[in-house]
Amino acid sequence: MEQAQISPWSPEVERGSTLSFLCVLGNNRTLDRNASHIIWKLEQNLIAQENYNVINETVSNVTIYNFTHERAHVRCFINVSGHEQLLNQTQVRSGFRPDKPGNFSCIFYYDKNTTCSWFSGKETHLTTHYTFIAKRTLHAADELHFCRSDNGSCSLFYPYVTMGTIIWCQVKAKNALAEVTSEWVYLDQMETVKPEIIEVKAIPGVKQMLRITWKRSELSPNSVKFNCRLRYRNTRLNYSEEVNVLMERGKKKASFNLTALHDFTEYAVVIQCSDSFFFTGWSEEKIGRTEEQAPSREVNLWRVIESSQSSENRTVHLLWKVVEELPSSGIILGYKIQCVSESSTYKKTVSSTNKMDILSLTGEAYVVSVVAYSSAGESPEATLRIPSIGEETPKPVDTVKAFTSNEQLVVEWETSALEVQRYVLEWYKEQETEPAGRSWQYIANATNWTAPKGVFEPFECYNISVYPLPKDKIGAPKSLQAYIQERSPSVGPGAKMENLGKNEVMIKWEEIPKAQRNGFIVNYTVFYKPEGGKELSETVNADFLQYQLKLLKANTQYTAHVMASNKAGRANGSTITFNTLKLSKEDLILMNTTIGLCMLFIFVLGTVWSLKKHA
Ligand SMILES: *[C@@H]1O[C@H](CO)[C@@H](O)[C@H](O)[C@H]1NC(C)=O
Ligand SMILES: *[C@@H]1O[C@H](CO)[C@@H](O)[C@H](O)[C@H]1NC(C)=O
Ligand SMILES: *[C@@H]1O[C@H](CO)[C@@H](O)[C@H](O)[C@H]1NC(C)=O
Ligand SMILES: *[C@@H]1O[C@H](CO)[C@@H](O)[C@H](O)[C@H]1NC(C)=O
Ligand SMILES: *[C@@H]1O[C@H](CO)[C@@H](O)[C@H](O)[C@H]1NC(C)=O
Ligand SMILES: *[C@@H]1O[C@H](CO)[C@@H](O)[C@H](O)[C@H]1NC(C)=O
Ligand SMILES: *[C@@H]1O[C@H](CO)[C@@H](O)[C@H](O)[C@H]1NC(C)=O
Repeated sequence: MEQAQISPWSPEVERGSTLSFLCVLGNNRTLDRNASHIIWKLEQNLIAQENYNVINETVSNVTIYNFTHERAHVRCFINVSGHEQLLNQTQVRSGFRPDKPGNFSCIFYYDKNTTCSWFSGKETHLTTHYTFIAKRTLHAADELHFCRSDNGSCSLFYPYVTMGTIIWCQVKAKNALAEVTSEWVYLDQMETVKPEIIEVKAIPGVKQMLRITWKRSELSPNSVKFNCRLRYRNTRLNYSEEVNVLMERGKKKASFNLTALHDFTEYAVVIQCSDSFFFTGWSEEKIGRTEEQAPSREVNLWRVIESSQSSENRTVHLLWKVVEELPSSGIILGYKIQCVSESSTYKKTVSSTNKMDILSLTGEAYVVSVVAYSSAGESPEATLRIPSIGEETPKPVDTVKAFTSNEQLVVEWETSALEVQRYVLEWYKEQETEPAGRSWQYIANATNWTAPKGVFEPFECYNISVYPLPKDKIGAPKSLQAYIQERSPSVGPGAKMENLGKNEVMIKWEEIPKAQRNGFIVNYTVFYKPEGGKELSETVNADFLQYQLKLLKANTQYTAHVMASNKAGRANGSTITFNTLKLSKEDLILMNTTIGLCMLFIFVLGTVWSLKKHA
């Protein structure tokens, strides 16, 4: 190898530029080979001949346009009797000019060296050298401190920088493409070594408080007195608050109580201190959580009393929801349910982690109560009275209606009982059979409710009831069914025929299964058509499940089907085919009677004739 020289050797170039290389054959070359036999490659790829230029017998030149490789080899070969023989290769690197350095910061280590660093900007991909220059003043004659670095930071040796020193500094960045010099920057914001937060901790039994403990850096002497700033932030919120605290001379550690915080909330804390000359940077963030508190809100309690009840045994389903607290006071571990008879000494307490319970009660009146508990205590009690059987139930509201407005279901009711201020609205899908699947909402001082979007699903039939709550009683419900949105039925009604006659037939059909109605069926239409004739139809309201077609043509093939309509559309059931009879029942009876009479007549005639013959 090395039978040739490439120049330039190992260049560093600007990304995307045009390059030119020479391959100069050595003296010991084969005589019949000259520079016109040289070929060029970029890595493994042959460079097109039109980019070659044979300068003289020993020198070939190549031009490479738009060089975008970060690193690549340019290789020159010579063609010897069909074989490519590598003569030489060189690596080429491409990159960018350095950015202007900026964002200087220096960290002061007291009686040790001071380290300054800067931001070099984007990666150049080329060998780039930095020179850091420090001066005490900008006067030209001032003492200079130099430091060369390739990694973005430099040390200034003690005692060039001592307590209270301020410096001017500048960084020069240089690579093959350019030399860029930063402005002179006046560094009064020099940092001292950061303090460190050791812990952010709740003290058992102390609510709404976090104790912050921090220590000065090992590198800052104990003789320095610090003024510190604690900055703390609820991790779920954006804004932070600050308090100033003092760190005395001679103390390695200090702590501070942050008070009046939220319960059971995470706070992120950072600290920064000042020795009256320099500030430290902000410490690493530490997170801690305040003590848990007993739940502050009572649960939202409701019940479903199963309707099939004897006076001795009743099944009552208790259901409850946790009212969300913001911020949350803690983690609810479970619920305690208490059931107390009003007339006897019966009392039962159970615990549960579910948000429901099933009680088997006798016909007496009971008071049930539920509390939620966390490791810190219990919530206030939610209570509900289960009346005895036979006790008079307060009367229901007068009217209820439901309609859709703005894609939301609105329920409105009217009542003449003016003393009632509170109501419970209860709803569940018509298909829902489990009492636990019911939803409810307490409503005070209003006689309407607009369901938040998403509470009711479209195309589903809901049973909705309004219960008035006079005093501590629960009145009788007033109920209705509603769809928030309807669409055409998924299937049509299946039809069949009965009582086929000469001119009439009874068409019967079945209700569409509830899950496939997608709305309230308003009416049914029976379509029928004689073979080759015109289609006719009859519509009946949804109370009917049959229709008698009359005035049909005798002995004719008919097709028929039934269509169900709701407010949003319609669906056709399958088609049935039948042939009307040639003769009606009456015709057959008449015919049979006629034949019978004829036979009788013939019989009588025969008898008379034979008697006569006998005689
Ligand atoms: C070929 O050209 C190069 C550069 O132009 C020159 O240095 C060299 O002397 C020339 N060689 C011959 C044999 O003419
Ligand atoms: C190089 O060699 C070829 C024959 O292989 C010849 O035709 C050509 O003239 C030579 N070129 C130069 C520049 O000497
Ligand atoms: C250079 O090459 C790059 C990538 O191969 C391409 O995106 C760019 O357009 C080219 N530039 C020119 C001037 O051809
Ligand atoms: C300095 O740092 C800030 C944020 O840390 C950054 O937005 C800015 O671009 C930097 N400036 C330079 C010149 O590096
Ligand atoms: C936090 O700040 C961002 C941008 O400043 C803002 O978009 C967002 O809504 C804020 N979040 C809260 C909870 O305030
Ligand atoms: C912080 O609170 C704890 C517990 O109430 C108390 O013992 C301690 O003295 C308080 N510390 C400070 C610095 O107030
Ligand atoms: C049947 O009900 C639909 C949907 O409400 C209605 O558009 C149509 O007019 C009704 N047909 C008759 C004949 O009443």
